[in-house]
Amino acid sequence: MSPSCHLLFQHCSLLLSVFCKHSVFNKGVYLQGLKTLRKQSFLGNFTVTDYRVSQQLSLQQFGSMSETISRVRQLTEKGSKMEGWDDCWKAGLTPWDRGSSLPILCELCKEDALPNGYALVPGCGRGYDVLTLASAARVAIGLDCSEEAKKQAEQLRDSRGVPSQRAQFVVGNFFDFPFSQKFDLVYDLTFFCALPPESRNSWANRMKEIIQVDGELVTVVFPIGDYEGGPPYAMNLDIYKQLLEPLGFESFYMKNISDQLPPSSIFVRWKLRY
Ligand SMILES: C[S@@+](CC[C@H](N)C(=O)[O-])C[C@H]1O[C@@H](n2cnc3c(N)ncnc32)[C@H](O)[C@@H]1O
Repeated sequence: MSPSCHLLFQHCSLLLSVFCKHSVFNKGVYLQGLKTLRKQSFLGNFTVTDYRVSQQLSLQQFGSMSETISRVRQLTEKGSKMEGWDDCWKAGLTPWDRGSSLPILCELCKEDALPNGYALVPGCGRGYDVLTLASAARVAIGLDCSEEAKKQAEQLRDSRGVPSQRAQFVVGNFFDFPFSQKFDLVYDLTFFCALPPESRNSWANRMKEIIQVDGELVTVVFPIGDYEGGPPYAMNLDIYKQLLEPLGFESFYMKNISDQLPPSSIFVRWKLRY
């Protein structure tokens, strides 16, 4: 196998691994994910059982660009980054899309362990997490800079019969969107790692600005590593601590979720103390 085929194989393995781990027992969702991968037309002879191979994989597959990730990088780096993300959505270049929320988020919602009121999912993509968070006691708002993502999220919401008053989708830039209230909960999954490193301070300041005192920020530290370039940009827990702690965010819950997102990803809940 040539090195480029090997990398492509690794990337396919990773995507399928993430996907299958969540939905291997859910045939409907599983087929939906498989369809997504086929649409990206690099599935080749890949079979569903190959996902096991990927459990051995290291972070390298993100640093070494597969064709899909390389294309995402090209599109999001051009003049207008917002437009680039929309182009990815229109072209079906969404390698981050797992087809469902992380099991840990579903469990916390089931246990009613997260704050009610207003929740925001920045960079919500197809909106799985918005739909998971939406409830009678919580209005969940999904923000994405892509019109196409919003369209797909609304279609998903309507197909699931979730009331639009509980799960709202808006298009805009996280850094300057005029929200009409502060949030009790913000859930960031693969949004922070999609942003260029020079936006990190602005990301943290914006979180401080839009979250109520005593409100909660949930971050998923992923993908953990030290490679160059992105998106996704390599993450580690210290990056978050250095940005958030001086602003009054205190972590009170950390869980390794390697079983849900490779490798060694950490689910962290922060409370805004002041
Ligand atoms: C890596 S994707 C993650 C999507 C989703 N959170 C998920 O896990 O499936 C990042 C998302 O953030 C959106 N995005 C990027 N920059 C943004 C910005 N400044 N404001 C709002 N959305 C943005 C992109 O359109 C894309 O849908």
